[in-house]
Amino acid sequence: MKRIPIAFLACITSSFAADEWKLPEEKIAFKSAPGADLVQASCIMCHSHEYITTQPPLTRDQWKASVTKMLQKYGAPIVPEKVDALLDYLAQSYGKAVK
Ligand code: HEC
Repeated sequence: MKRIPIAFLACITSSFAADEWKLPEEKIAFKSAPGADLVQASCIMCHSHEYITTQPPLTRDQWKASVTKMLQKYGAPIVPEKVDALLDYLAQSYGKAVK
């Protein structure tokens, strides 16, 4: 059996022990407003924050069309009574009115 140099082993173990393996920090968060928690709870199991926050500014109706599609075609876990609040949030925070 080949002998593995101790220095080599020490090098490997110290690199695992070092606190180097941190995940990158989340840089994008949803704009803070009522409804942000709904988007957080209903959308990010499939999309990154970025995917939603970098959509072109959509009107409320356009957001509605997307959210309806998410619900009906992809089974997004959105409580029907919360859809209006979710759309208000998306349209106000990431909609046409926002510059
Ligand atoms: C179960 C997974 C899933 C969830 C949950 C989900 N989506 Fe999607 N979404 C998709 C898929 C898959 C596509 C790609 C659809 C396509 O290309 O037609 C997509 C596409 C989109 C698009 C691109 C435009 C469009 O209509 O295709 C938008 C905007 C979007 N999602 C927003 C949302 C928002 C907002 C939520 C939360 C309310 C959400 N999604 C929740 C799976 C999901």
